Amino acid sequence: TTGLITLDPGYKNTGATKSAVTFLDGEKGILRYRGYPIEQLAENSDFLEVAYLLINGDLPNKKQSAYFKERITNHTLIHEDMKRFYEAFPSTAHPMGILSSMLSSLSTFYPESQNPNRSIEDIELTFHRLVAKITTLAALSYKSSKGQPYIYPDNKKSYVENFLYMMFAVPSEKYELDPVVVDALNKLLILHADHEQNCSASTVRIVGSSQSNLYSAISAGVSALWGPLHGGANQAVIEMLEMIIADGGDYQKWIEKAKDKNDSFRLMGFGHRVYKNFDPRATIIKKSCDEILAKMGVDDKALGIARKLEEVALKDPYFIERGLYPNVDFYSGIIYRAIGIPTEMFTVLFAIGRLPGWIAQWKEMIENQEPIGRPRQVYVGATKRDYVPIEKRK
Ligand code: SDX
Repeated sequence: TTGLITLDPGYKNTGATKSAVTFLDGEKGILRYRGYPIEQLAENSDFLEVAYLLINGDLPNKKQSAYFKERITNHTLIHEDMKRFYEAFPSTAHPMGILSSMLSSLSTFYPESQNPNRSIEDIELTFHRLVAKITTLAALSYKSSKGQPYIYPDNKKSYVENFLYMMFAVPSEKYELDPVVVDALNKLLILHADHEQNCSASTVRIVGSSQSNLYSAISAGVSALWGPLHGGANQAVIEMLEMIIADGGDYQKWIEKAKDKNDSFRLMGFGHRVYKNFDPRATIIKKSCDEILAKMGVDDKALGIARKLEEVALKDPYFIERGLYPNVDFYSGIIYRAIGIPTEMFTVLFAIGRLPGWIAQWKEMIENQEPIGRPRQVYVGATKRDYVPIEKRK
């Protein structure tokens, strides 16, 4: 600390705000959305109901639920001109980069989002447009990458059914929804829906604090989530497991590499800034892995390696001393892969799940009229010195 400035890189010990959205207890492995335990929501709720809960603060009654679902359903289409963007992206474009660009572009098509004095109805409309259109934008990037025809949303389907339909249906065949897959995806999206002041939620808050429009704040959140230390870990976990399998399955060797300070390799999907005993979401996802893969008759070698890594790491003092346990990203990719989601879209699924949480965090920041985010620093650079003309420089 110098004067009034306390240095806290990564904000490990800094509370940036007061929030009523999500409660975490890192020691006890507790996660609650607006007071409801995640275990109960994963078991009994559906993703749109959880989205309503996070954004509005309470579970919806029948009328509120019907209205919310009808609003989302009626805003799944995107402006036809936006399709041309997809043809412009190179085939190498990562779906997270496409999603971030497309979400930010929504502000061009919906200028009311840029009016700082817009009405409550316009603010709500932006929420509904975001939740509705993120699935359409995600599915379009998948269809574009496959060179397949775009599939328009079907307003008779539920939110998750519609996403799967837009992703995997092809006009020449009948598309059958598998209830096991719909249920698994609902549960995964609920488990990803919010997580208090994580890196991407803090990004959405700080971008929103400058009164930038919500579409661009969410686009910034997608960019933050993309990093392999954050939401990008679910893709990095599967790539790590496949690398270990290709390397002969010697997971002990890779555990030793993860412990070696001179080796930059980290066990992806392990560790968490807050959870120091277990991530309650990983517990639920791991259990769901077995159920879903069994029901789908999928035998994924990666699951076997993941279980072995967890088993060995949990007995290893290096991991125990540092409180390193599987986090939400460790098993989620196994399920996404079983569903048919391509690896490079795993983090897009994370973003679809996290969107209601980002919206709830942004809404709370606006309602609390929080000041623009602008941290200070401790200056350690050069002291005052005079300009030297280039002729006199060495
Ligand atoms: C998410 O914040 C959230 O809530 C995020 C999230 C959400 O829902 O929004 O939960 C989603 O991002 C989950 C995390 C996904 N990331 C990964 O799985 C990547 C691998 N994990 C790490 O890089 C790391 O654990 C973090 C980024 C998750 C947390 O990093 P911290 O809190 O800054 O901890 P740290 O890097 O300071 O590590 C503490 C120690 C260090 O060793 P020492 O210097 O004390 O000797 O633990 C070691 C680290 O080297 N360590 C690891 C490790 N993670 C931490 N060593 C090997 N493998 C790892 N995975």
